[in-house]
Amino acid sequence: MKILANDGLSAEGISALEKAGFEVQTTFVPQDQLIDYVNNNHIEVLLVRSATKVRKDLFDACANLKFVGRGGVGMDNIDVEYGRSKGVKVMNTPGASSISVAELVIAHCFTLARFLHQANRKMPVEGVANFKNLKKKYEAGSELRGKTIGIVGMGRIGQQTARYALGCGMKVIFFDRSKAEITVTLDIFGAGEVPVTLKGYALEEVVKQSDFISLHVPAQADGKAVIDAEMLKNVKPTAYIINTARGGSVDEAALAEAIKNGKIAGAALDVFNNEPTPDDALLQIEEISLTPHIGAATAEAQDRIGLEMADIIIEAMSVKA
Ligand code: 3PG
Repeated sequence: MKILANDGLSAEGISALEKAGFEVQTTFVPQDQLIDYVNNNHIEVLLVRSATKVRKDLFDACANLKFVGRGGVGMDNIDVEYGRSKGVKVMNTPGASSISVAELVIAHCFTLARFLHQANRKMPVEGVANFKNLKKKYEAGSELRGKTIGIVGMGRIGQQTARYALGCGMKVIFFDRSKAEITVTLDIFGAGEVPVTLKGYALEEVVKQSDFISLHVPAQADGKAVIDAEMLKNVKPTAYIINTARGGSVDEAALAEAIKNGKIAGAALDVFNNEPTPDDALLQIEEISLTPHIGAATAEAQDRIGLEMADIIIEAMSVKA
């Protein structure tokens, strides 16, 4: 059985699948050639990350396709229900990347609190001629300890982010449509497992109270931003928003406007509308710490994703390793 891993797959995942008798191809096929490639090469399993789209036309045109796997969490690039209605198994690896995304969130929190994003842009250009002024500019940093992080969406990634934030001495509050309270367990070196119970609040309350607001919600079915222009009015002027969820989760234009008008201190964005061609003007705002959708992009997460995906395929296709 042939597998096309169009956005790549870890070496461990490939090896597990090959041991189980699959042929794994990692050639990247451009979107407009994908249907022909799948049909001409008798691909029965198509694996993607967020870059490749698997829409209705592909499900309609590729009658031999049996399985579509999303190595990662968000399935907004796949017409999941449509595919399933055509008898194709469509699955993701929901737990494998939580640690990596949470670590990126905390990295952005430290970055924003100490202006690393700005200093990293300025030092190569002005570091020699203007050192003293740059020191003055970036010496108004703050500590994370004692600050409040508001987590919007308390699923696996939200909970992992909470663990890291608690480890930094932050107060953690959250909003989740289906949870009023949650107990997360911290595995602390030398101290064993420590349970911490966290309280949920209304979204508006979380936004009002937080110094850092981190989004962990899936793409919204109606396409509306969770943090829109109206909700941004509740943010403290000293607060930051961190979006590692999906581009549309924060209204980018409203965010840019709020930063420009001093209504919010800044933001960190790992995800954007119109990836892979985000709005250039947004990228030029110096108060925004930027990364190119790398939340799940660590060796460890990709290894876990590859192995989890291999297990899922072997199970779903009823092939024994
Ligand atoms: C996800 O939904 O798993 C993340 O956004 C990661 O996407 P990626 O696999 O394209 O890096």
